[in-house]
Amino acid sequence: MDYAIAPATQGFKPLVFSGIQPSGNLHLGNYLGAIANFVKLQDVMDCIYCIVDLHAITVWQDPAELTKSIRELTAAYLASGIDPRKHIVFNQSRVHEHAELAWVFSCVARMGWLNRMTQFKEKAGKDRENVSVGLFGYPNLMAADILVYRATHVPVGEDQKQHLELARDIAQKFNNDFGSRISDLHLGVGEANGFFPSCEPIIQGPATRVMSLRDGTKKMSKSDPSDYSRINLSDDADTIAQKFKKAKTDPEPLPSEEKGLEGRPEADNLVGIHAALSGRTKASILTEFGGGQFRVFKEALTDLAVDKLGPIGQRMKQFAADQAYIDSVLRDGGDRATAIAAPVMNDVKDIVGFLR
Ligand code: TYM
Repeated sequence: MDYAIAPATQGFKPLVFSGIQPSGNLHLGNYLGAIANFVKLQDVMDCIYCIVDLHAITVWQDPAELTKSIRELTAAYLASGIDPRKHIVFNQSRVHEHAELAWVFSCVARMGWLNRMTQFKEKAGKDRENVSVGLFGYPNLMAADILVYRATHVPVGEDQKQHLELARDIAQKFNNDFGSRISDLHLGVGEANGFFPSCEPIIQGPATRVMSLRDGTKKMSKSDPSDYSRINLSDDADTIAQKFKKAKTDPEPLPSEEKGLEGRPEADNLVGIHAALSGRTKASILTEFGGGQFRVFKEALTDLAVDKLGPIGQRMKQFAADQAYIDSVLRDGGDRATAIAAPVMNDVKDIVGFLR
């Protein structure tokens, strides 16, 4: 592991949880910001990796396309090196405890907290009256995803940081609101005697926020109308070459030192992508390419990306062709996830005072 991980909340077993929405176009940002870390963490902790289909339907999804995207994302997880026997891979809607805990959290979280979520503001834009109620409550479900397993660590890209802070606030408020009940039922953990841990974000590496190839000030995103703004994990070598060739740059040659990337978002982004794919520092890349033309650097970047992503794309196709295997992975993962989530949800029901 090439980075330090914060310790788990005292008394809680270290456990990783993360998820990705099955809404098409898995891209280089998802890979470098999230999946690459998912793969690394498998060696140091138990991990649960989810395909968050309940989150996907907060905006309209064509049902047949959604089913296809769930299988494709599963294939991408496996192709990237996630091991579904050692760890857990499943789709969220299979484990009803996510939705149940999300409801309890909707009654714990405050409107003001959710009103501050920048991703909701961005997604809803000016049309707030017309977006789904689910889109507003989205972060409550995300908190439930993590806490229904009492997971302690969450690898994500930079854009999810605020949602994770909210998850921590929800956990803390639940622990406080029900503090005496948690003690009476002897369900508290560690010195703090809380029921839920305070989950630690893992936002690591040189590419926690990969930017659009067309505009270095905008995040690389699956919803960008231009396919040239992103590299998809399913792109072939020619497409990757075309996209990097057309990627926006500025007229100056590359700087020789990192400081020279300031105020040059497109150059900074491409150097960051190279660093993340090659496992090198930005400084060492600039030592090699500084002073040179973008064309030469882009060709090297293309070779590197094709080298790293090509085999993943190939394996994705192979896994995707075996639908029976993909479905069996999700079924088995769902059963194993339920075995962890169900007792936690039963405790939550006892804490809240429901009869069961
Ligand atoms: P989603 O599906 O939008 O993105 C999946 C992961 O990819 C990261 N990511 C990026 N990283 C770097 N640069 C980019 N341009 C970029 N774009 C996306 C995201 O940060 C994320 O880690 N709400 C989550 C899914 C979710 C979740 C959870 C995550 C639901 N429940 C519980 C963790 C724990 C989302 O929409 O990610």
